[in-house]
Parts: sequence; structure tokens; C-alpha cells
Amino acid sequence: MTRKTVRIAMNGVTGRMGHRQHLVRSILALREEGGLDLGDGTVLWPEPVLVGRREHALKALADRYGLQHWTTDADAVLADETVDIYFDAQVTSAREESVKKAIAAGKHLYIEKPSATSLDGALELARLAEAAGIKHGVVQDKIFLPGLLKLKRLIEGGFFGRILSVRGEFGYWVFEGGWQDAQRPSWNYRAEDGGGIVADMFPHWEYVLHELFGRVRSVQALATTHIPQRWDERGKPYAATADDAAYGIFELAGGTVAQINSSWAVRVNRDELVEFQVDGTEGSAVAGLRDCRAQHRSATPKPVWNPDVPATESFREQWQQVPDNGEFGNGFKVQWELFLRHVALGEPYHWDLLAGARGVQLAELGLKSSADGRRHEVPELTL
Ligand SMILES: NC(=O)c1ccc[n+]([C@@H]2O[C@H](COP(=O)([O-])OP(=O)(O)OC[C@H]3O[C@@H](n4cnc5c(N)ncnc54)[C@H](O)[C@@H]3O)[C@@H](O)[C@H]2O)c1
Repeated sequence: MTRKTVRIAMNGVTGRMGHRQHLVRSILALREEGGLDLGDGTVLWPEPVLVGRREHALKALADRYGLQHWTTDADAVLADETVDIYFDAQVTSAREESVKKAIAAGKHLYIEKPSATSLDGALELARLAEAAGIKHGVVQDKIFLPGLLKLKRLIEGGFFGRILSVRGEFGYWVFEGGWQDAQRPSWNYRAEDGGGIVADMFPHWEYVLHELFGRVRSVQALATTHIPQRWDERGKPYAATADDAAYGIFELAGGTVAQINSSWAVRVNRDELVEFQVDGTEGSAVAGLRDCRAQHRSATPKPVWNPDVPATESFREQWQQVPDNGEFGNGFKVQWELFLRHVALGEPYHWDLLAGARGVQLAELGLKSSADGRRHEVPELTL
């Protein structure tokens, strides 16, 4: 086996996503496995260079994981010819500028969603990357989750017949910070810092709907701020200027109607933090992050509406678990592996900056719909 090193500048690794999902659960996990076996006698060995603004935080992270390379000089990393890939999981508002510099430096790109704060910005990044001839990818982790992979298997096996509707329920209570600490960063609740649940979650809903059920053709949404005041990381009160809940309806190519509630101001009465119920003429399923339950037409009960008598059957118990029939890796790591193969071997990879721009487009049109109270067509994007 030949070992080939791929050097990855990782910016934003002190943050929630950068640290846990990308550095530890993806890149370091790959190193623990001895690298990525490319199947051609080569093993790709990812070598992270931690990049950020705070020296002490980067050094602490490097020491903790026994890594040698870290720097606060992002420009120097981009000028370093031995660095192959630039990865970005910074706060959303900082991404565009950093990514432009990375493209200008000719680095391959792998970045968190949303790829930019506006559709114009997202498309510009996609065009610049294409013109530079670099390889690019945007995180679209949800379709690599076990629950959604099982749902995909049902769709591909023809289980549903004609798919009529999708009902998504996402959310949990995010503490305000005044009484118990908030479990998400405060910038998420400030519009001026790139926050808001529409900007955060609609990019996910775009690729989940698109890949599983059909392209989103129109959007109608109501976004609101249920909790107007929160407390930041230093315990200081601030005005929550961004939307913390969004109620959306999406028409899909092929005729399926999707309806997704997203909220950081809801208490969980579900089995998982996100669940999608899919109803088709031949069967239905409910998929979460890990599990998927199904009910076939032949096993569908025939309830009769009668509020005078208590429910006679336990509806939730009538569903059947869809078996794993295999092992599922961490969704972020699976997508990293595909991206690294794309870079090393030129294998096809469609979760690129244009796909990322579609997510930003849906978020932008969702907010527009909420502001003007109208349903909006979602034009197909091209470069
Ligand atoms: N794929 C997913 O499921 C998923 C989930 C959550 C967040 N995200 C995305 O990941 C990105 C980071 O989110 P997070 O929750 O990890 O945020 P976070 O606040 O925990 O981390 C942000 C990172 O950016 C750095 N940073 C750079 N410039 C900054 C600035 N001006 N102000 C503050 N921090 C700055 C911070 O030091 C930190 O390393 C966001 O773009 C978000 O949309 C993706």
C-alpha cells in the first residue's frame, strides 16, 4: 500500500460542527482507521492544519488530539502549496470571503452549509470555483443518516406507490440562556450575524426533498421569532432578531406536497429530533435520524371517527421497524470520504457549490414568502 497525504486546512474547528463532526468524527476517525483506502493500492492520509482566530484555542485542540499543524494565519495556509483542500465551518457570515480567497489560491473546497448568506453570493462562489477548475463540495449530511437511508431504500424499492405527501417535524427547545445556558451559539438568533432557522434549516430541507422526492418547485412559509429576548455566552441579554421558527409548505416536481415545521421553541413529543412522515398510495413510513418505521397498505387499520368513545387501538404500535440490513457510518464522515475520493480519483460528486446554492435559494425565497405572504416559484438554477 502506498500512503498519499492530503493536507486539509480546517477553518472553524473550534466551533460545534467543526470540532465534533468534522475534525473528531470525520478526519480523526479516518486516521484512526489508518486512512482512506482508495481501492487502487493507495491509502489517503488526511493531515489537518487547524486554522482559526484564537491561538490558545487552536493550540489546546492540537495538543488534545496530538496534531502538529495549526495557525492563526489563514493567508499563509492558503499560500502554502502543500495544502490541497480548504475546509470551512466558520460562522456563516464569515464564509464567503474566506472561500473566495481559497478559490483564488486554487485550493479544492469543502464547506459547511449555507455556502453563503445570499443566493447571489452562493452562485458567485459556484461560478468562481468552476472557472478555477477546482473540486468543490458542500455539507449535505442529512441524506447520509441511517433513518433517511432506510427511507431512500423504501422509495427505491417502490414501497410507497405514488408518494402523496411528506410531513417533516424538526425542533427542540433551545434554552434562552437566562435561566439555563443555551445549547446553541447566540449568533444563531441574530439576523445581522447570519442567524435564523430558515437560513439554517431550509438548505437541509432542499436537498432532502430534492434527492428523495423531487425538486422543490414552490415555497410558502411563515417565519417568526417566538422568543424575542435571549442571553448570550457571557450571560448578557440581547434582542433575538432572527426567526426561531418556520412553518413551510413545498410543492415538489412530480406532485408531492411537503410540509415542514422547523422550530427552536418547541418541546419534543416525538421519537427523534427530526421526523418525516411519508404517505403513499401503497404504504407510509416515518423516518428519523436513525430509525424508520413503515406501514403497508395491507396492514393499514380502518379507524372510524367517533369522539364519543376512547381510541380502540394503539396506532403507533401498528408500524413495523425497517431493519438496518447493514452498517451505517457517521453521515459527516461518509460525505467526507466521498469528497476525498472525488478529489483523489475524480469520482463523480454532485453535492457541490451549485447544490449548495439551491439551499441558499430556498432559504431566501422562504424568507421572502414569509415577508410578503405569498407563495413563490423556485426557479431552476444554472451556472
Ligand atoms: N451540517 C449541519 O448539520 C450543521 C449544523 C449546525 C451548524 N452548521 C453550520 O456550521 C457553521 C458553524 O456552526 P456552529 O454551530 O459550529 O457555530 P459555532 O459558533 O459553534 O462555531 C463557529 C466557528 O467559527 C469561528 N468564527 C470565525 N469567525 C467568527 C466570528 N466573526 N464570530 C464568531 N465565530 C467566528 C469560531 O471561532 C468557531 O470556530 C455554520 O455555518 C452553520 O450553518 C451545520
